[in-house]
Amino acid sequence: MCGIVGYVGPKKAVPILVHGLKRLEYRGYDSAGLVALDRSGARRFRVVGRVQNLDTELFGQDLPMTSGIAHTRWATHGKPTENNAHPHTDSSNQFFVVHNGIIENHDKLRLQLEADGVVFQSETDTEVLSHLLAKFYDGVLEHAVEKTLHLVEGTFGIAAVTTHEPFKIVVARRGSPIVLGLGNKEMFVASDVSALVQYTDQVIYLEDNEMAVLTPDEYAIRTLDNRPISRKTFQIDWKIEDSDLTDFPHYMLKEIYEQPQTVENAMRGRVLQAEGVSKLGGLQAKIDEIKKLRKLILVSCGTSYHAGMVGRYIFEQLTDLNVEVELASEFRYRKLRLDETTGVLALSQSGETIDTLAAIREARRKGAITLGLVNVVGSTIARETDAGVYCHAGPEIGVASTKIFVSQLVILNLIALLIGRYQSVSLSEGMALLKELQELPNLIQKILAQAPLIEDIARKYHKAQSFLFLGRQMHYPVALEGALKLKEISYIHAEGYAAGEMKHGPISLIDEAFPTVALVPRDATYDKMVNNIQEIMARSGPVIAIANEGDRSIGDLVDDVIYVPRTHELLQPILSVVPLQLLAYYAALLLGREIDKPRNLAKSVTVE
Ligand code: AGP
Ligand code: GLU
Repeated sequence: MCGIVGYVGPKKAVPILVHGLKRLEYRGYDSAGLVALDRSGARRFRVVGRVQNLDTELFGQDLPMTSGIAHTRWATHGKPTENNAHPHTDSSNQFFVVHNGIIENHDKLRLQLEADGVVFQSETDTEVLSHLLAKFYDGVLEHAVEKTLHLVEGTFGIAAVTTHEPFKIVVARRGSPIVLGLGNKEMFVASDVSALVQYTDQVIYLEDNEMAVLTPDEYAIRTLDNRPISRKTFQIDWKIEDSDLTDFPHYMLKEIYEQPQTVENAMRGRVLQAEGVSKLGGLQAKIDEIKKLRKLILVSCGTSYHAGMVGRYIFEQLTDLNVEVELASEFRYRKLRLDETTGVLALSQSGETIDTLAAIREARRKGAITLGLVNVVGSTIARETDAGVYCHAGPEIGVASTKIFVSQLVILNLIALLIGRYQSVSLSEGMALLKELQELPNLIQKILAQAPLIEDIARKYHKAQSFLFLGRQMHYPVALEGALKLKEISYIHAEGYAAGEMKHGPISLIDEAFPTVALVPRDATYDKMVNNIQEIMARSGPVIAIANEGDRSIGDLVDDVIYVPRTHELLQPILSVVPLQLLAYYAALLLGREIDKPRNLAKSVTVE
């Protein structure tokens, strides 16, 4: 959800702020703004729509200010208008604030301020902050921030500045991420590291109910009840060029094509082939507790939830654990009976998804061991779980998650193998799985080479109003993932379904205008899938099959087929998903959709 950027130092602030906003655009936004300030005062600019519009607004203005804060908004209170765009200010235009999150008691605070004679300019919840800062200011901005935030209920990631102390930025967080970037006689702040990586690789993540005071030469972190604290500095594990589009038309396509490398990154330094086991440093500190687990619950959202669903099959096959998978947004409200023999594994690309974070906190409260499978180093979920494994996949900029799904499936196999080799997995079984894992990059390359065929299939069907995606066992979540990819970037309605359920209702939808994508690997459910396909075709439903290379009988049966290589049964979903990602991409492209920033969506869902 939206983004914050701040800079204070010797350089002109505006170019740094605008560049940072552009790096955060993938987080979702509907308007943007910034304020730059120095001893002469403050200049505020706000626009509706893309950050590019801010560039246009600023064109030709070579502003000398060396301090400022900026924001991309994903509206929660008040329409996406210029007037509701951040930064918000007080009546004297001396205090400015940008905010990610929701102030749940903003109505009450607004009424109290209006009773004091304050005239509000916007419809947002955020504006109460700027007026409270003005009310509490005693010559030290952090004092005003502290008093203001003690009144606030809800979530925030904020940055605040005042013309009285133009070379100081005060930031604070509760529920929405805030990352400090440490420079040489300059300081940065942002919602995530992609806005900072061009300037520094040394970052500090604020924890909830913490604030920081940034000036060019130093930073100071304290709790909101004014206790000084020190925080660990993290080194960003990727470079700015990793988030460059290079010669791809969209980040989503780039990230689909990165997947061979993603698999290698997920496995790097983690394969002990001769021992048939994985090595996961991030779990080592808790390996004794992990070995004693009797139950594992996988919790996550969206694509990460689909990965968790595949993970359940993987853990069931490789370990003796009793495995559950649950939507994080559901898990957090369940009447849970957990203890130290239960592990809760959170899967999250961003490491900031609020439902997944809440699930982890609930699991910890109930005494479970919490584990994380996260891409963003130092993110909140990574820091709040007892142990975990990073994807090391580099930034995933496209809102539609692709390479992270593949990375998660690889790492779920590594985690399950690590546990399983203490249990009933044999040396030869472990060696066989690792050998096939190391073959995956080449096999994915073979599928990517079929992109022109997949584009042709997308062209044939992209006018359909609805799609059905069918799979069984480990391919049921792949069907769900294929449907999610298609609907979230092409806006074509799509449903993923367990193929065995088709006759319990969805078959009524089938006709010649309702295509079905059927995942038909050569596994134990193959014959049942062929039956499903025949039942669909008997009702004139077009069928696109994702089948294993060499399966000519399927090719002769269906309207269109995309072949994928065979691999270890537990790894087959990693290959089967790639054609579905490309199918969704090309359908969206043909429909002229905003591929990397689909409407209404954001890359990281940090508001509930
Ligand atoms: C996937 O394409 C979506 N962008 C979305 O479902 C995403 O997977 C979900 O919000 C979870 O995000 P996370 O992995 O960062 O927790
Ligand atoms: N709730 C604030 C608003 O609607 C902030 C939303 C956001 O996180 O961008 O302006």
